Amino acid sequence: MKQKIIEAYESLAERYNALIDHKPHNAYYDRPNTLSLIPEMKGQHILDAACGPGKYAEIFLDNGAIVTGFDISPRMVELAIERNKGNGTFFVHDLSTPLPQLQDASFDLIICALALHYVEDWGPTLKEFYRILKPGGYLVISIEHPFFEFTYFQSTRYFETEPVMCTWKGFGKPVDIHSFRRPLEACIMPLLINGFQLDTLLEPKPVEKFKELDPKHYRELNEFPAFMCLRAKKPTFTL
Ligand SMILES: C[S@@+](CC[C@H](N)C(=O)[O-])C[C@H]1O[C@@H](n2cnc3c(N)ncnc32)[C@H](O)[C@@H]1O
Repeated sequence: MKQKIIEAYESLAERYNALIDHKPHNAYYDRPNTLSLIPEMKGQHILDAACGPGKYAEIFLDNGAIVTGFDISPRMVELAIERNKGNGTFFVHDLSTPLPQLQDASFDLIICALALHYVEDWGPTLKEFYRILKPGGYLVISIEHPFFEFTYFQSTRYFETEPVMCTWKGFGKPVDIHSFRRPLEACIMPLLINGFQLDTLLEPKPVEKFKELDPKHYRELNEFPAFMCLRAKKPTFTL
């Protein structure tokens, strides 16, 4: 599965990077909503986990943050470095494995946008995020909405975390994208079990600009969410 995900993103990387600034689902749905959960960027140490071609990182750097990013796709990491012109630190890394190169309590904020559905078991990833976040720091994630995925993949096994596949046609040649669909409980409980306090759950709506570019999906996304954004805090003290 992991190899298939890497191959898919390696083959998509150039096109993804070329479209990311204005692709409606990213630019006018995910990003404005996910960014609305970020309290402060200036001077903050931010980790962009599964950074893709570094678009979020670019926004953080433009706003005065100190940025580290990683992605499992080597081509995506190269594109993140090119986009950010040597600013920030980017490396190839798999979200589901430990990050010994990053120190305990070294980040004010971790963002993981549209990537956790590639990881079957969130436990080890969230443990690492918790370790490297400063007390009082935030983890902001965006994921595919569990209800959207349940209907989109026509699942009959709501309560399971199951492998699913869809074919993306919006990036040139069709590419099969493998991921894991999970129930709502499996999106929330791993955060709480690993010590985070969930402080915001946002079922996003597209911003107005989306309508001009893709009126059909604008209407659909105002009727039913495709994504979900969560903000969780590492408490400043533990009992
Ligand atoms: C939909 S893109 C999102 C990119 C970026 N976060 C954004 O929102 O612009 C998903 C990214 O997750 C990366 N990815 C998938 N599985 C991963 C894993 N196990 N570890 C790290 N990155 C992964 C892909 O290579 C891809 O760049």
